[in-house]
Amino acid sequence: MFNKTDGVALPRHVGIIMDGNGRWAQHRGRARTNGHTEGLKNARRIVEAASRRGIRYLTLFVFSTENWKRAAQEVEFIMSLVKQHLTRELDFYRENHIRVRHTGDTDGLAADILSEIKQALGDTQDFDGMHVILALNYGGRNAIVRAARRFLLQGGATAREAAAALDEDGITQNMDNPDVPEPDLIIRTAGEFRTSNFLLWEAAYAEYFITDKFWPDFSTEDLDAALAAYAARERRFGAMTR
Ligand code: IPE
Ligand code: IPE
Ligand code: MG
Repeated sequence: MFNKTDGVALPRHVGIIMDGNGRWAQHRGRARTNGHTEGLKNARRIVEAASRRGIRYLTLFVFSTENWKRAAQEVEFIMSLVKQHLTRELDFYRENHIRVRHTGDTDGLAADILSEIKQALGDTQDFDGMHVILALNYGGRNAIVRAARRFLLQGGATAREAAAALDEDGITQNMDNPDVPEPDLIIRTAGEFRTSNFLLWEAAYAEYFITDKFWPDFSTEDLDAALAAYAARERRFGAMTR
C-alpha cells in the first residue's frame, strides 16, 4: 500500500472516469441500474482508500453532459442514487474529514439535486481532509465555455478589449473550482482509451492509467497499482528529459 510515508511521488489530484457499470451488470445478467448501485458502493470504498493514502483532491466523473442521451429510466435512477448518497452520507464524510465539492453545469440539474449538493457543500466545507469533487452534469467543453463567459462578464470593457485580455490564466481562474490544482493522474476503468470530455482543460499534462476492470470491480489494490504506475512515470511538461 502506498501512503504519505512511502516517499514515492503521490499525485496531489486524481481524477477517475468510473466507467463500466452497465457492462459489469450485463455480464452478470442483471439490469444496468444494478451496476450503478454497485458502482456507487465502490466509489465510497475508493474515496476512503484515496483519503487514507493522503491524496488531497479526488474528482469523480459521476454523470456527463452527454449522459442525458441515455434512457430516461437510467438517467432518473442515477440521479436518485446521487441524491440518496448526498442525503445519507454526511457521517461518512465527517468520519473521513472529507470536503464535498461539485463541478459541472448547474443549469440542467433538477432543483432537488441542486439543493442536496448545496447542503453537502455547506455541511462539509470546514472539513480539512481530502476534497471529493463530484463531476455531475459535467462536460469539459461546457466547463471551458462557462469559464470563458465568466471571464468576459467580469470587466466593463468593450468586447474587443475583453477578447484581447483573455488568456490561459483567465480561463483557469474562472473554472468552477479555481483553487483545485490540475489533476496529476487520471484513471479510467473499463478499458476505453478516450477522455469522454473529462477535464479537458485541466488534464493537459495529466498522466493516464487505464485498466480493463469494470468500475464496480476496481479495488483498492487496483488503486495502488495506478499510484505505483504514476510514481514510475517521468513527467516532462514539454521540457527536455534530464
Ligand atoms: C459509468 O458506467 C457510469 C456512467 C456513465 C453514469 P456506464 O453506465 O457507462 O457503463 P458501461 O460503459 O455502459 O458499461
Ligand atoms: C464517461 O463514461 C462518463 C462517466 C463515467 C460519468 P461514458 O460511458 O459516458 O463514456 P463513453 O460514452 O463510453 O465515451
Ligand atoms: Mg460507459
